Amino acid sequence: MPIPIDFALIAHQESWRAAADVLAVLRGPYLAPIPDDDLKEIFPWFPPRAVCHIDHRSVLGHSVHGIYIDSFIPPDRLAHKYRHENIERVRDAAACAIKAGARIVSLGGFSSILIEGDSDLLPEKGETVFTTGNTLTVAFVVKGIKKICALQGRDMGEATLLIVGATGDVGSGCARCLAPLVKRVVLNARSIDRLRSLAEELSAGGKAVDIATDLQQLSVQADIVICVASLESPSLLLGRLGPNAIICDAGYPKNLSPVDVLEDCTVFFGGLGQSLGGMSFEPDVHRVLHRHPFPNVGQGCVMEGMVLALEGRFEPFSQGRGFITPERVQEIEAIAARHGIHLAPLYNAQGPLEEVACETEGSADERQIAAPGRAV
Ligand SMILES: NC(=O)c1ccc[n+]([C@@H]2O[C@H](COP(=O)([O-])OP(=O)(O)OC[C@H]3O[C@@H](n4cnc5c(N)ncnc54)[C@H](OP(=O)(O)O)[C@@H]3O)[C@@H](O)[C@H]2O)c1
Repeated sequence: MPIPIDFALIAHQESWRAAADVLAVLRGPYLAPIPDDDLKEIFPWFPPRAVCHIDHRSVLGHSVHGIYIDSFIPPDRLAHKYRHENIERVRDAAACAIKAGARIVSLGGFSSILIEGDSDLLPEKGETVFTTGNTLTVAFVVKGIKKICALQGRDMGEATLLIVGATGDVGSGCARCLAPLVKRVVLNARSIDRLRSLAEELSAGGKAVDIATDLQQLSVQADIVICVASLESPSLLLGRLGPNAIICDAGYPKNLSPVDVLEDCTVFFGGLGQSLGGMSFEPDVHRVLHRHPFPNVGQGCVMEGMVLALEGRFEPFSQGRGFITPERVQEIEAIAARHGIHLAPLYNAQGPLEEVACETEGSADERQIAAPGRAV
C-alpha cells in the first residue's frame, strides 16, 4: 500500500552545481555525471518530478511524511521573459503533488512569486491545499534580526531599517513586524505606487517612513538592511550604509552581489529554520538539498508546509501577496516552536556566525556568539 503523503515541497535549485547534484541523484550511482555544457542544454527539458521522500519528526514524538518535487526551473532562467514557461513548470509540479495525494504543499523559491501566491492558478486541487510558506519565512527573518541585534548589543529603537523588496509578500510582512521596533524605516522597490501605499499604512502607526526606488540616491544611512527582492541573480549593490550595518540576505537566489564591498558589516542569510526533531531523506539527498553549515536547516517557506502537517492543520496558511500580519507571524512561529522548529543558527558565505548549533533555542541563544564584522 502506498505511504500517505502528508506534505509536498515544490522548489528549484539556486545554482547549476545544485541542479547537477539533483540530477545525479535521479540518475542513480552507476551513471556518469552529465558534463556541465550538456547539463545546461538538457536541463530545461526535464519535467517536474519527485526527487525524494522526506520524514520530518516533531519533538513531540510523531512524524509526517512527504516528498520533494523539483520544478527544474533552470537557475539562469528566472527572468521575466521566462515567466510563462516557469509558471507551467510550477503548475506541472503542483499536478505531481496533487496526483501523489499530498495534503499540503509548500511553494518554495520562485514558485509562489510566479503565481503571485494565487493558488487558483494551479491545477484542480481536490483535497490538496497550498501555502506560500512566506509567513514562517517572515518569522525567521524577523527573529534573525532581533537575535543579531541582541548579540551585538544594538539598540533597535535607534536604528534605521532599510528593506529592499519591501512591497513584496516577505518584505511587507517584515516591515509590519519590525517598523514598531525601529526609529525609521526606508522602503525600497521599483514600483513607486506600491511603495507609497505601504508607507501610508506604516506611517499611520506614527512611524517615520521614507521610500526610495533608487538605492544609490538614498540620503539616509541604514543600520539594518533586509534584502528580500525577487532578483533573478545575486546582483544587488547596497551603496551607502551606516557604520557596522547588519544585513540579512533572505533572497532565493541571494540578493547581494558578490562584488559589493560590505566592509565592517555583519551579513547573514535569513529566513532559515532548523528542526530539532530532524529530517531524513530517501534517497539520502540531505547534502544536496541542504547546503547549510548546520544540520536539519531549511527555508522558512518550505518548512511552513511541514510545520502545518505536523500540527495537523492542512490549510492554506499563507496565500496571496502582501497580507502577512504580525499576529499571523506569531501564530506560525508558535506552532513551529511546538514541534521543535526554530530560527537556524546564523551564517553567511564565509561560514557560521555562531559557535554552536542549538539544542533548544533558549539555551543555545545564551551560548551562541556572533563573529564581529563578517561580510559575504
Ligand atoms: N529564505 C526563505 O526562506 C525565503 C522564503 C520565501 C521567499 N524567499 C525569497 O525572498 C524574495 C522575495 O520573495 P516574495 O515572495 O516576497 O516576492 P514578491 O512578493 O514577488 O516581492 C518581491 C519584491 O521585490 C521587489 N523587487 C523586484 N525586483 C526588484 C529590484 N530590481 N530592486 C528592488 N526591488 C525589487 C518587488 O517590487 P517591485 O516589483 O515594485 O520592484 C517586491 O517588492 C525572493 O528572492 C524569494 O525567493 C526566501
